[in-house]
Amino acid sequence: MFKCPFIGLLINFVINFLKMEKNRICDLFGIEIPLIQGGMIWCSGWELASAVSNAGGLGVIGSGSMYPNILDEHIQKCKAATDKPFAVNLPMLYPDIDKHFETILKHKVPIVFTSAGNPKTWTAHLKSQGIKVVHVVSSVKFAKKAEEAGVDAIVAEGFEAGGHNGRDETTTLCLIPMVKNEVSIPLIAAGGIGTGRGMLAAMNLGADAVQIGSRFVASKESSAHKNFKETVIQTPEGGTMLTLKELTPVRLIKNDFYYQIENAYNQGAGHEKLTELLGRGRAKKGMYEGDLTEGELEIGQISGLINKILPAAAIVDEIITELKVALREQNTAKFNF
Ligand SMILES: Cc1cc2nc3c(=O)[nH]c(=O)nc-3n(C[C@H](O)[C@H](O)[C@H](O)COP(=O)(O)O)c2cc1C
Repeated sequence: MFKCPFIGLLINFVINFLKMEKNRICDLFGIEIPLIQGGMIWCSGWELASAVSNAGGLGVIGSGSMYPNILDEHIQKCKAATDKPFAVNLPMLYPDIDKHFETILKHKVPIVFTSAGNPKTWTAHLKSQGIKVVHVVSSVKFAKKAEEAGVDAIVAEGFEAGGHNGRDETTTLCLIPMVKNEVSIPLIAAGGIGTGRGMLAAMNLGADAVQIGSRFVASKESSAHKNFKETVIQTPEGGTMLTLKELTPVRLIKNDFYYQIENAYNQGAGHEKLTELLGRGRAKKGMYEGDLTEGELEIGQISGLINKILPAAAIVDEIITELKVALREQNTAKFNF
């Protein structure tokens, strides 16, 4: 058709370039793959965050279990280990939050994921310092509030997720399309995603990207204790439960400590008794120190599909390879209308 083959190639290149859809999350963060490793207390330090960022996703340091000087050290080590963007997750109930913000500003961390609190409190201040702000929500109501507060993107996290969780028990399958209908800023889906097929499904529901936590607990670089990692890969479907709704709802592996909570409920325990039973330091004891009996073991329902401990880069690679296969299958035989 074209007399000069070079012109033909050039035109095809331009057409393909124009057809290429930009991904809003990749553009916002300056990353190659729309996959975020969720910030996780006791599990996501600089080693995991830098490994995920180096693999093309976005690594997130979980600062909720760090003293300010420890966060400082993790940010410095993360910067030394990667020249790619990374983020810090900040649960806003953290007692020394002002100090964490100082550290984040001092090191010019480019992206902050806030969770467990009101996004209005810090968003404007962080944005005025040139930081991109993402807020984690578990309902449409809070997604709208976060958008109003001016955040750059939202993580909508369904009931399947590991760690602390929404009270309304809305699953990822329902939450993502509902949030998508109500907000227009970029949307990241979280909760129950651990495979390429899961990632594609979430993006088909309307998400621009996914945030994955549990799968990265079982990574070589996660700072979870090896006893916890081994337990995660052995946890079957049905091996986790959302509990402690009267305090802060959390999804836990059904270990001895979980059954102590269940017994307390059966005996009519209220807020005070549950607080006493939980005590202090349970999450550290279970996830960081590896006490599988008395410790709190936070993990998501997807643990039923996680059966190996891999380097973080291999996890990212496996997910993206599977997503590409699933995408090709989706475009072919299944829909013969
Ligand atoms: C062990 C663990 C600790 C977590 N800690 C936090 C945290 O400190 N802050 C937060 O915003 N989310 C936390 N999360 C939630 C994750 O960031 C992520 O949104 C969630 O794990 C996604 O669901 P998934 O577990 O099904 O992948 C935690 C999750 C796990 C499994």
